[in-house]
Amino acid sequence: MKAVVYHGPKDVAVTDVPDAEIERPTDVLVKITTTNICGSDLHMYEGRTSFEKGRTFGHENMGEVVEIGTGVEKIKVGDRVVLPFNISCGFCKNCERGLTNYCLTTQPDPSAAGAAYGFAEMGPYGGGQAELLRVPFGDHNALRLGEDAQDKENDYVMLSDIFPTGYHATEMAGVIPGDSVVIAGAGPVGLMAALSATIKGAAKVMVVDRHPDRLALAEQIGAIAIDDSKVDPVQAVLDETMGLGADRGCECVGYQAHDPQGNEDPAATLNMLINSVRFTGGIGTVGVFVPEDPGAKGELAKQGKAAIDFGTHWFKGQTMGNGQCPVKKYNRRLRDLIAADKAKPSWIVSHEISLDQAADAYRNFDSRSEGWTKVVIKPGMSHEKEAN
Ligand SMILES: NC(=O)c1ccc[n+]([C@@H]2O[C@H](COP(=O)([O-])OP(=O)(O)OC[C@H]3O[C@@H](n4cnc5c(N)ncnc54)[C@H](O)[C@@H]3O)[C@@H](O)[C@H]2O)c1
Ligand SMILES: [Zn+2]
Ligand SMILES: [Zn+2]
Repeated sequence: MKAVVYHGPKDVAVTDVPDAEIERPTDVLVKITTTNICGSDLHMYEGRTSFEKGRTFGHENMGEVVEIGTGVEKIKVGDRVVLPFNISCGFCKNCERGLTNYCLTTQPDPSAAGAAYGFAEMGPYGGGQAELLRVPFGDHNALRLGEDAQDKENDYVMLSDIFPTGYHATEMAGVIPGDSVVIAGAGPVGLMAALSATIKGAAKVMVVDRHPDRLALAEQIGAIAIDDSKVDPVQAVLDETMGLGADRGCECVGYQAHDPQGNEDPAATLNMLINSVRFTGGIGTVGVFVPEDPGAKGELAKQGKAAIDFGTHWFKGQTMGNGQCPVKKYNRRLRDLIAADKAKPSWIVSHEISLDQAADAYRNFDSRSEGWTKVVIKPGMSHEKEAN
């Protein structure tokens, strides 16, 4: 089968690899119909993780079930399904508590937790930027879709990661109706946090970034855009909240946060939020941070350390939640909002491409080229169709 294979920093190619197949009775085999490029792929693409050369990317996957293992009870051949990026068992100590983001069964390293498709440090699993994907514990991991699965494919595929992840940021921050919310980052995840806060009835949603195209998407759903290349974002949030600060903050950037000139500082967004969220407010951090980052410039950052304003955070009595999103906690309910036309996460999709176009798309998305907000890959789409 064809797949997007990592060859080294900023070097991916679509090549032939052995077909994914059923390996265990509980597996399901999915023919991928849509698979996205994510900001998380970029950390790996840039060589800023331990992702091994020769592996396949792709953790935001949806498709059609083409084969099931002998132990699969619920999922049937022909079902249209969307797969959480987390691969989990459903029966371990963490999964029992709903923390499928930290599954102990699917992560082979006993000192670690959590697994994902095509992801550094998250088990050996192949990615879905390919024609076929092996889904372990298929009954547990595959979320079935209704008759509108194909009509709303670009909406439902967002249930694999970024829509639940944006929602998780608002959950950890504690967003409730009437809240004011500041979001760091207008990438796909920040935009999904803005959508989620809006769905939850936030009175005011403010999104901080410096890319006009991304900020314009935030404005399209009624958020206030704050361009931090033009204004001080902390002051802008204080001005919008009578000097009190926002009730809630969402970190949707991660350890490669930088100033508008490009100087990286993993503490930048955390400090912006600590200083613009009010006393007793909550912060949800879904942007990825890593235990070590040898590719960083600063000494602290190399060791995975971020110099955050902890004194201010403590003094203000703020709370902060961190980590990967437990997609299964939210995907069923968010699916039903899409089905009922109450959420349309596909508004951020900027490019629909065939698998063969992936290398070029990685280059553009990694450069945050103007207009490249979210790339969806259609492995079944021919090159010719796309050219028309
Ligand atoms: N926790 C999870 O489960 C989970 C899931 C998906 C993605 N993520 C992570 O979420 C983060 C965002 O993902 P994405 O797909 O939106 O990525 P992205 O890289 O496309 O978007 C990040 C945005 O942040 C902006 N930015 C950079 N520095 C900033 C700063 N100092 N202040 C304000 N904005 C700044 C950039 O301009 C960019 O638009 C990544 O770290 C990704 O790995 C986490
Ligand atoms: Zn993702
Ligand atoms: Zn588990």
